[in-house]
Amino acid sequence: MRRMADIAAIEATLKGVLDPELGSDIVDLGMVHGIHIEGTTVHIRIALTIAACPMRDQIENDVVRKVKAMPDVDEVVVDVVAMTQAQRSEVMSKARRHARDNAEPTMVNPLTRVIAVSSGKGGVGKSSVSVNLAAAIADLGHSVGLLDADIWGFSIPRMLGATDLQLAAGEDRKITPAVAQGIHLISTGLIVENEDTALMWRGLMLSKALEQFLKDVAWPRDLDYLVLDMPPGTGDIQMALSRLLPQAEMLVVTTPQKAAQKVAARVADMARRSFMPIVGVIENMSGFTTEDGRHYALFGEGGGDELANDLAVPLIGQIPLDPFVVEGGDEGAPIVRAHPDSPAAEAIKRAAAELTLLIPPAEDETCTSRIALLAEQLETMVPERT
Ligand SMILES: Nc1ncnc2c1ncn2[C@@H]1O[C@H](COP(=O)(O)OP(=O)(O)O)[C@@H](O)[C@H]1O
Ligand SMILES: [Mg+2]
Repeated sequence: MRRMADIAAIEATLKGVLDPELGSDIVDLGMVHGIHIEGTTVHIRIALTIAACPMRDQIENDVVRKVKAMPDVDEVVVDVVAMTQAQRSEVMSKARRHARDNAEPTMVNPLTRVIAVSSGKGGVGKSSVSVNLAAAIADLGHSVGLLDADIWGFSIPRMLGATDLQLAAGEDRKITPAVAQGIHLISTGLIVENEDTALMWRGLMLSKALEQFLKDVAWPRDLDYLVLDMPPGTGDIQMALSRLLPQAEMLVVTTPQKAAQKVAARVADMARRSFMPIVGVIENMSGFTTEDGRHYALFGEGGGDELANDLAVPLIGQIPLDPFVVEGGDEGAPIVRAHPDSPAAEAIKRAAAELTLLIPPAEDETCTSRIALLAEQLETMVPERT
């Protein structure tokens, strides 16, 4: 009689099967839910995050191919099941930890909270929300950076009245963010062609700009929040972000229009693929109220609520339509500063306060992060010798 393969050897083989989306092997991710050997037939139960996982075939084929190649195995039977909600969130947090462990070093302090303002489509007010949130968070007393990750369609310098600012290189040849209205700002719109900057940006590939903005920019060490105005869509920049800044969390901006299903699916899928947690939804352009109190739901109603429900995250704010948002954007005076008592500004300020409660700055948080900060300070101190 032939020998039987043993469980440990099969498990070792399965460690060679990667979930290409989650970036780790299926054993480590806890996706192997059972191995059963019957003579030369091996039964393997695999749990996927969702049954209709697009990687299902690839994972299944890999499992069969690799285990079948083992001695003493003639047949492999794979039983694919879907994970429970609890198992799924366990896997996602494992994948996040894994991404964090493998993250490439950047100049952004790991304790800086990173908020990536995203949407499924353009024109919903991502940039307006980014600028005003950054200003409102800064007005709460936090140190705030704003990275205009919309490399091709940058609009932040205009919105902050910073079009004549330029980025400068520090002594260490790192780029220093410009400071506009108390916010540390980086944008391709601030790259001006002169001798210094030409040298600085030589070899800059715009497609690599995000990477450069994170690795070659001297972001302040004590930055509490870094807000990123993401480009529209769900492409490469989003994927690069999670690789570079695993602490990033996504804030989704949407309009009140109720046809949000498709957008929701797209955003959720992007978040899943990049293991970026979604911190909440902001509904922008939520109706218009006239001075005599009449309300017009110009772009529909309920879209923000619906999207937040679908994503199982809080609706952090509803910002009404307000001509001052447009004017502020054109004149470089964010509405939260220029018209702080307007309903739109009030809504943004409430959203900023809510956000800082949901993701408090590191020093207010757990003792682990305080210890990490302390360890970092100690590291930079020169040891005294007697
Ligand atoms: N709450 C609002 N009320 C009125 N106009 C708005 C509001 N939010 C955004 N806008 C305007 O809508 C347009 C698109 O906004 P923008 O922030 O550039 O969107 P995105 O960055 O998503 O493309 C801009 O002209 C902006 O001034
Ligand atoms: Mg924009």
